[in-house]
Amino acid sequence: MKYTLPKYLFAALLALSLGCSTAKQNTAAFTKERQLPIDRRVDSVLALMTLEEKVGQMNQYNGFWDVTGPAPQGGDAALKYEHLKKGWVGSMLNVKGVKDVRALQKIAVEETRLHIPVIFGFDVIHGYKTISPIPLAEAASWDMEIIERSAQIAAAEAAASGLNWTFAPMVDVSRDARWGRVMEGAGEDPYLNSRIAVARVKGFQGNLGEFNVAACVKHFAGYSFAEAGRDYNTVDISNNTLHNIVLPPFKAASDAGALTFMNSFNELEGIPATGNAYLQRDILKRDWGFKGFVVSDWGSMGEMVTHGYTKDLKEAAEKAANAGSDMDMESHGYVEHLAALVREGKVSEDKINDAARRILSVKFELGLFDDPYKYCNEAREQQTIGKKEFQDGVLDVAKKSIVLLKNERSLLPLKKQGQKITVIGALANDKTSPLGSWRIAAEDGTAVSVLEGLNQYKGNTITYAKGADVAVGKTLFGSETKINTTDKSGFAEAVAAAKNADVVVMVLGEHGLQTGEGRSRAKLDLPGVQQELLEAVYKVNQNIVLVLQNGRPLTIPWAAENVPAIVEGWHLGTQSGNAIAQVLYGDYNPSGKLPMSFPRSIGQVPLYYNHKSTGRPGGDTPTESVFWSHYGDEANSALYPFGHGLSYSKFEYSNLKLSGSSFGKNGNITVSVDVKNNSTVDGKEVVQLYLHDLFASVTRPVKELKAFELAEIKAGQTKTITFTINEKAIEFYTANNKWEAEAGDFKVFVGGSSVTKLEVPFSYTN
Ligand code: BGC
Repeated sequence: MKYTLPKYLFAALLALSLGCSTAKQNTAAFTKERQLPIDRRVDSVLALMTLEEKVGQMNQYNGFWDVTGPAPQGGDAALKYEHLKKGWVGSMLNVKGVKDVRALQKIAVEETRLHIPVIFGFDVIHGYKTISPIPLAEAASWDMEIIERSAQIAAAEAAASGLNWTFAPMVDVSRDARWGRVMEGAGEDPYLNSRIAVARVKGFQGNLGEFNVAACVKHFAGYSFAEAGRDYNTVDISNNTLHNIVLPPFKAASDAGALTFMNSFNELEGIPATGNAYLQRDILKRDWGFKGFVVSDWGSMGEMVTHGYTKDLKEAAEKAANAGSDMDMESHGYVEHLAALVREGKVSEDKINDAARRILSVKFELGLFDDPYKYCNEAREQQTIGKKEFQDGVLDVAKKSIVLLKNERSLLPLKKQGQKITVIGALANDKTSPLGSWRIAAEDGTAVSVLEGLNQYKGNTITYAKGADVAVGKTLFGSETKINTTDKSGFAEAVAAAKNADVVVMVLGEHGLQTGEGRSRAKLDLPGVQQELLEAVYKVNQNIVLVLQNGRPLTIPWAAENVPAIVEGWHLGTQSGNAIAQVLYGDYNPSGKLPMSFPRSIGQVPLYYNHKSTGRPGGDTPTESVFWSHYGDEANSALYPFGHGLSYSKFEYSNLKLSGSSFGKNGNITVSVDVKNNSTVDGKEVVQLYLHDLFASVTRPVKELKAFELAEIKAGQTKTITFTINEKAIEFYTANNKWEAEAGDFKVFVGGSSVTKLEVPFSYTN
């Protein structure tokens, strides 16, 4: 039975819980009321609300009012302002800074009938002002502790700036490097994505204190499977792929207590995600028991009309509400039509109550009812943002995110004394690009460039030549800088400088704003004339260390063949140059592993290690027959596979053993392997365990990551690493349309990448 408070108590509770009386007046009772369970407090608020006010909670507006000036007088902004005062705005996005947040919260709390606080959201994707590596780069660390720490830093700065909700983490499993948003996620593997989703949710939300924000797990679901990697394009995936590949990270994030979800722009089985009841009501809210709320993606409700799924915005609002999309981001569909739809009997009031309850609950969880200004403390804002410990934190993450792709002739680490080093490439001297996409509160020019990082080492002589610009796409807000640069006038200077150098460090790749939302690419090579620059320099000096800065896997077959050392330096955030310099000089021994396969050619994309076998599988070697799954002009395999990454140490795997040859229900099996650091430097290796389920009720991938461990191994030392395999590891979404373990034969593989050499069979009987 629903709990209803007596009227008198209820009014008192509301006044107290809304924080509209002074602190002095209510101290004693306040504490008491806070102890009531949140659902009872939510009920007490809901019972007071009109239909329009409930619908208002379901409405989110983009920041619309310049708080330093007078209230808007006309147009859209004035309307939104009026709505705010009526209590018809549950949330706002893209407002930041204590001053602005406080001014708007004050209107919500003091000028509306029920004084319900607004929740303020923002895309704090990889840092607020102190920027961490892009999420794809962080995933390359495989280090859950530092990923959680990175999210904590982002949350602390954002919360200090008045925000209480971030639209992160993005947990879309990404197989197609053409899609610009691969930079925002954790790559191609569902297990790694799941582990990272949990770390990020924990990092953002913590104990929901004043330095935490609510997480928003996105984009639910299937968005990264946009056909041909073109953002916002049609998605057409099987239920099998949906459940086995796409959904696991979302489930993990929901289980970890994520307070909110965001749906997505794409359709699934012909139904746009925002209007998709199977996703939002059946899977998320019913099967997984998710108690938080779902926000639409920006305008995605209105886009259901363009998809051809609804005839107008009103019908879109009807379908979205019925499908369980609780909050409308900037389509205005709910605020304009939802109350009427309820009156017409097209949407039940129960559904509105459910959505409003979910939204109010999150506000209670965040403590906004107890103190709507919890996040509005100017002193805290000043003291928190850009703190030294945050700078140190993001430097640590950045170092650990770097992947050494190739290192021949021991070109790396660089010698610290007596070397003539020439640094080439526009990106080497760029203090903005390393911030990457989605770093809205960070100012341009605030990253440490590679040149600055290298210049801190004084023992060598460093010269710099730009060589060529990087082609740059549209900036985040649509204005354009350099596009398709073809200017080679800097080549001569770069080539001359390279001639006399002992080592040439070339920093090439993509500008930070060539990646991210809406930045799909049909080519994955080095943009502009950078490839030509690389080859021109190589002609005069082959001692090249190529440092890549990019937000997605690139096709670099020529470099992989010719350049002796290649370092994947991503977009590493504020401390980028320091991190790269420390790795190049060996002050940090690289330990990152690729979270996404690097293709040889664009034609291989989507390319991922955990593919199915096919009826005519094969390796890279041509055979006499053409009738097998291959290309006539390219190998099947990746240039650099998932999980690949070298170190200045040399790790050797041997002695892969199992504790038995089979296990049964509720049992398990132990896997052990010896990893030797056969070098003179201490190092860290990500030891990876994969399984192959040989036959099943639905076909299974040739390999699936199931466990990993970061092992610190001293020079010359051998460590035995052990893992346990139980039913959980072999469960999948079967032909029975549920997650279960099926009896059968398996192989376990352990190694330093997805291309492992050691394997042992076992079986499972249930
Ligand atoms: C993106 C979301 C983002 C939202 C708000 C949309 O275009 O797809 O990921 O959170 O905008 O900025």
